[in-house]
Amino acid sequence: MPQPSTQPFCTCSIVGTGSYVPERVLTNDDLSKIVETSDEWITTRTGIKERRIAAEGENTSDMASEAARRALASAGITAADVDLIIVATVTPDMFFPSTACIVQKKLEAWNAVAFDISAACSGFLYALQTARHFINSGNRKTALIIGAEKLSSLINWTDRNTCVLFGDGAGAVVVRRMEEGDANPPGRILSAVMGCDGSLTDLLKVPGGASAMPVTPENIDQRLNTIHMEGRETFKHAVTRMCQASEQALSMAGLEAKDVNMVIPHQANLRIISAIASRLDIPEERIFVNLQKYGNTSAATIPVALDEASRSGAIKRGDNVLLVAFGGGFTWASTMLTW
Ligand code: UT7
Repeated sequence: MPQPSTQPFCTCSIVGTGSYVPERVLTNDDLSKIVETSDEWITTRTGIKERRIAAEGENTSDMASEAARRALASAGITAADVDLIIVATVTPDMFFPSTACIVQKKLEAWNAVAFDISAACSGFLYALQTARHFINSGNRKTALIIGAEKLSSLINWTDRNTCVLFGDGAGAVVVRRMEEGDANPPGRILSAVMGCDGSLTDLLKVPGGASAMPVTPENIDQRLNTIHMEGRETFKHAVTRMCQASEQALSMAGLEAKDVNMVIPHQANLRIISAIASRLDIPEERIFVNLQKYGNTSAATIPVALDEASRSGAIKRGDNVLLVAFGGGFTWASTMLTW
């Protein structure tokens, strides 16, 4: 098996993971009582069986903070050790302050600088890559990278095309600069790829509610403050871009598809994931899937899945793990790790 090549940024490692999903479960059968749909349609077209919905008053920052606490515990460090917090989200608690600042307060992580990143479903990998640059430049040492979403706040519950797809949740990782002597650190980041195509912004968006279209009774009536998606077009771009990004991250790491022990893809649709597995020629047992339980939680899908894969033993120390995401923007990103 080829060894991962030495990358310019090889001193950065994921040393802890955590996740949190709300208690309330919304099943496909529950949805079939709200809109004209069925468990059969949702299962065969998406793979999703149920999703979690945040409780009344439970905000993105609450879910983010709980996932972060679990990641800190898994890394064996305290909030005081953290000097950078990045929250990837498209459902911030409010326009400002950033959700990351609210998380800093909730964790009492007073030594950290904190800000949000908006890259939709690719947000977590954008944030991870941003943290990696901070760490490898020597500017920061210990980062909490969180993907957290309360997508239930952006759903049009009368639109069956979208309301069946999304859910709420949060995942977090602790990323640390490795010191000399850490010859074989866990969760070593080998390579990363990011991309976007802003010419396709209209295919997946929340058109209203921000500065271009501030909230008015009229645009609320037209549900312009909810998710609008051209599903079929988004699907095609998702498959193409996630395959390309995967191949680029593999090539940068000096690896081939056959060397990958586990792919942890963005969890939007099982048919997208199967298409990627087939095009990359990676057997489905080496693709981690949990979307049947949570649906699409945007920036949270990958860190939640990474945490579950790690805790369940689906990925083990030394495994080559490929993370790959695609989302509104369009944005895409991939990261190759040795776990
Ligand atoms: O996370 C960011 C990236 N997001 C994605 O990657 C999502 C990408 N897109 C998709 O996953 C799929 O396009 C969807 C799951 C959104 C839709 O699946 P599809 O196979 O592309 O269905 P479609 O939109 O082409 O619709 C097929 C039919 C339509 O009926 P007609 O026009 O053929 O009569 C829809 O009205 O299915 C109908 N339909 C539904 N029927 C029952 C759409 N949604 C539903 C539903 N229940 N929930």
